[in-house]
Amino acid sequence: MNPGMVIAVHSYKGGTGKSLISTNLAAIFASQGKNVCLLDLDLRAPSLDATFAADGKYWMNDFLEGRCEPIDILKDFSKEKGTEGRLLVALANPSMQAIREIVTKNGKWEMRALHRLLSLRDILLKKLAMDYVILDTGPGLSYASINAIAAADVVLVVSTWDSSDVAGAQGMVGELYGLLEKRAMVLMNKIPAQLTINEEMRKKLANQFKKAFKLPVIDLLPCYCDVLGLERSTIIALEKPDHPFSKSLVEVVKQVEKAKDALKPRPDQRPS
Ligand SMILES: Nc1ncnc2c1ncn2[C@@H]1O[C@H](COP(=O)(O)OP(=O)(O)OP(=O)(O)O)[C@@H](O)[C@H]1O
Ligand SMILES: [Mg+2]
Repeated sequence: MNPGMVIAVHSYKGGTGKSLISTNLAAIFASQGKNVCLLDLDLRAPSLDATFAADGKYWMNDFLEGRCEPIDILKDFSKEKGTEGRLLVALANPSMQAIREIVTKNGKWEMRALHRLLSLRDILLKKLAMDYVILDTGPGLSYASINAIAAADVVLVVSTWDSSDVAGAQGMVGELYGLLEKRAMVLMNKIPAQLTINEEMRKKLANQFKKAFKLPVIDLLPCYCDVLGLERSTIIALEKPDHPFSKSLVEVVKQVEKAKDALKPRPDQRPS
């Protein structure tokens, strides 16, 4: 049985911190010796190329289009980033031409793209023995994000405390994740720092969001001005492991690992 897990990092609104969190979670897993693959599935507004330098001529877009093989889009950053485990990354093409091409795609193309994404998932988990595959998605209910969620075992919903973000994310949890029968957990991000200093207030807020989403809330990450000011090329968890943001994400990683354990069939469920 393959023990790997695919996590889609999703949100209702844009700019909640999905790419930052996906990148740092991937980096932490890899620095802990896990084999990880990070895929940029935000084809309409790619951003991982600002953190991981592209060198090949093929992108995620080309793979989904059927123009190349998985091996052509996967680059190993473990040496460059100094991680113990493998850190594979597939980037989306940030050129205007590629984005223009993507926005013209119809449902039929997206169905084919889903099949290709599912085949990539299989290769990553079964042939390349990835422990974790992290899908950085675009916000809301675009076809590409729905495909990412369909391909995932677990959805990590990143929400700010903005009421329209929470309401929209609640809707997605009820409608989309329910329909696709996906397990989900919530990570609240960019919470005003003064609301997270006091432990009691923090617990109260976490409970409030737990009730709103009817899902586990794994943490409340404050908004850090210095994180906001970082260059995208900085992977904070690797370069500043003592920063409270990095430490919080190490805790998030532990929660994700627990979720992975919970996915394993119990001995009485295993085929005999
Ligand atoms: N906890 C935080 N504190 C401070 N800044 C943060 C925090 N989380 C994310 N940011 C910053 O917010 C900005 C948006 O983050 P990011 O690009 O990861 O969001 P996103 O959800 O991927 O956006 P999009 O929906 O456009 O893809 C970035 O500048 C990032 O560094
Ligand atoms: Mg993003």
